[in-house]
Amino acid sequence: MERLDKIIATSLQISRKDAITLIKKGRITANNKTIKDPKEKFDENSAELFCDNKRIYYNKYVYIMMNKPKGVISASNGKGEKTVIDILPNDMKRKNLFPAGRLDKDTTGFMLITDDGELTHSILSPKNHIPKTYIAKLDKPFDDEIIKEFEKGIEFKDAKCLPATLEAVGGDYQVAKVVIRQGMYHQIKRMFSHFSINVVELKRIKMGALDLDESLKYGECRYLTKEEISAICDK
Ligand code: URA
Repeated sequence: MERLDKIIATSLQISRKDAITLIKKGRITANNKTIKDPKEKFDENSAELFCDNKRIYYNKYVYIMMNKPKGVISASNGKGEKTVIDILPNDMKRKNLFPAGRLDKDTTGFMLITDDGELTHSILSPKNHIPKTYIAKLDKPFDDEIIKEFEKGIEFKDAKCLPATLEAVGGDYQVAKVVIRQGMYHQIKRMFSHFSINVVELKRIKMGALDLDESLKYGECRYLTKEEISAICDK
């Protein structure tokens, strides 16, 4: 049970003060009754709430899957550059959204955007080793030796990568499917460049057990379902 002003503030992403004003003006109904007392308590998950006859849903946090296009950066403040937050549709924008994890400006694909710091932490935590799957188009083919090196864990000058899996897509050794379990800066590009191979195109297609929704065009996004949110963390 939660105070009505808190539920309204959270659901509409407005201040507590503005929520109290809405309630006092009689614009909020809960379970078919106009409620004017901001202190009255309701079950935030089951109460039927309306503001000006428009249904309100209690979402403590939101989880958005975006098919990131090229040319936008995965940050909440681009300092002049366009970010994944800037290109969210207006009705999905709310305070405190940030991308959970990084993709390079020229990398496309699955970007999770949320305001849930805890989930982000658990996805990104090196301890949890959530696998992330990428398709990389290369300027030259890789071979079975490189597959073995990926499996052993490639050593950069400053760090050693965890074992990664590498396979050819459709038998084409210039198109690689790579699964990594950590998120070092430019990791996949650096892993290939270790063998003097350049990544020409990079797309993330999966996080944890959750696939990028192929019906999303570049720049499009949609909310994740509860099942999908747990699937992300479920290795
Ligand atoms: N590895 C990279 O090199 N770039 C990305 O954007 C993600 C993983």
